[in-house]
Amino acid sequence: MTLSAGMIFGQAFAQHHDDDDKKPTNLKILPKDISGKELHNVMRNFSKSLGVRCDFCHVAQHVEGENRPRMDFASDDKPEKNIARNMMRMTEAINSNYIGKMIGGDHTLESINCVTCHMGKKTPIVSIDSLAKAAGGQFNH
Ligand code: HEC
Ligand code: HEC
Repeated sequence: MTLSAGMIFGQAFAQHHDDDDKKPTNLKILPKDISGKELHNVMRNFSKSLGVRCDFCHVAQHVEGENRPRMDFASDDKPEKNIARNMMRMTEAINSNYIGKMIGGDHTLESINCVTCHMGKKTPIVSIDSLAKAAGGQFNH
């Protein structure tokens, strides 16, 4: 398990390396002067939270004879990328408008992130009907 995750992100990192010296050209939410390292951490966080690879949100062109796809990170052609932007706005709004304004009981309330809902899945559970299935029948009474 750990090994395969390492393999996946090792490759994701390799994809990124091609792009490392290029400055981002199409950031609408993240700060435009974000460092390459920080940007990569954010993207790794998204990928891990949803259990996907970079090409879930980014255009990947598979070229004959090349074993790694050519990534176009700046392109907005994949709808998932714009959904992710709205998810970033939503997460930020939940944190600043609600969680950040709530007083906890005897503990501090933590900010939420993508993983809070996604838990390593593209699609979070949105109804209790899918709960039993997702838990492998654990909650099936
Ligand atoms: C869940 C969707 C999602 C995944 C998965 C994802 N990204 Fe992104 N990525 C985005 C979004 C959204 C933006 C634009 C953010 C903004 O507008 O501020 C972005 C922007 C970028 C940019 C800047 C492009 C530019 O020129 O503006 C790079 C580079 C990038 N991602 C690399 C990666 C890498 C490498 C991975 C895999 C480790 C990855 N992304 C995985 C959603 C994703
Ligand atoms: C408050 C809960 C919540 C948070 C936080 C959240 N999401 Fe989501 N996300 C959802 C729900 C609900 C859906 C839609 C599920 C469905 O279609 O059944 C979704 C769907 C998506 C999709 C579309 C998946 C697909 O199959 O097309 C993307 C991409 C996505 N989220 C990215 C993100 C990213 C990136 C973050 C963090 C910045 C994030 N989400 C944070 C609840 C959340």
